[in-house]
Amino acid sequence: MSAVPVLTIDGPSGSGKGTLARRVAQQLGWQLLDSGALYRLLALAGARQGLAPLDESGHAALAGRMNIRFSSDSAGEENIFLENEEVSREIRTETAGEGASRVAAMPSVRSALTERQRQFAQWPGLVADGRDMGTVIFPAARLKIFLTASAEERARRRYKQLKDKGFDVSLAALSQELAERDRRDANRAVSPLKPADDAELLDSTGMSIEQVEQAVLTLAKTRQLFR
Ligand code: C5P
Repeated sequence: MSAVPVLTIDGPSGSGKGTLARRVAQQLGWQLLDSGALYRLLALAGARQGLAPLDESGHAALAGRMNIRFSSDSAGEENIFLENEEVSREIRTETAGEGASRVAAMPSVRSALTERQRQFAQWPGLVADGRDMGTVIFPAARLKIFLTASAEERARRRYKQLKDKGFDVSLAALSQELAERDRRDANRAVSPLKPADDAELLDSTGMSIEQVEQAVLTLAKTRQLFR
């Protein structure tokens, strides 16, 4: 049997990867892997267990045993559970993103999560979004997208997204936090944020989500990921 088709979407914070990945997966009827959520869940699980933020072996061990579950309700809203408690909202704060970015820089944490992420590749196909989906986790993916947008637009999008969820955030503070997180993600030694050599670069500045989705679906069709 041939391999499960995989479409990867990588890029910096706020580029719209998550929204795009969810829409494309829904359109195709494929599985979805929100890999950032795994790092966010791990940071939260570590904090709850009282691990020191820099305790690498503690976080790596926890990465293998934390009990997580993803589901979406009939309205398409995502529900994410950690040890059977719903934490969908809690992991979306910028503080959680910051914690995720710290544990994500630890090599043994990344290797502890590698197999867990690969298990999401199930028929009829997988859309995976993150930072290293195309470079490290699914190097043989049939289509790799690297999604960017200008720093201003990414901060604005993230601001709107958090505001819509009812979070009290400031655009200036958010811009700074995103810049810091991107700097750490791009400069870490293991799996830094960068496009795979065979990735399609897509700059979504000034594009609507519908236009971006269409561009990706057209590429997927051209590559015969689906009929
Ligand atoms: O995509 P999201 O903003 O939820 O990711 C949170 C953090 O998790 C990122 O800033 C990054 O440090 C880390 N991450 C990663 N590799 C991935 C996905 C996320 O290092 N594949």
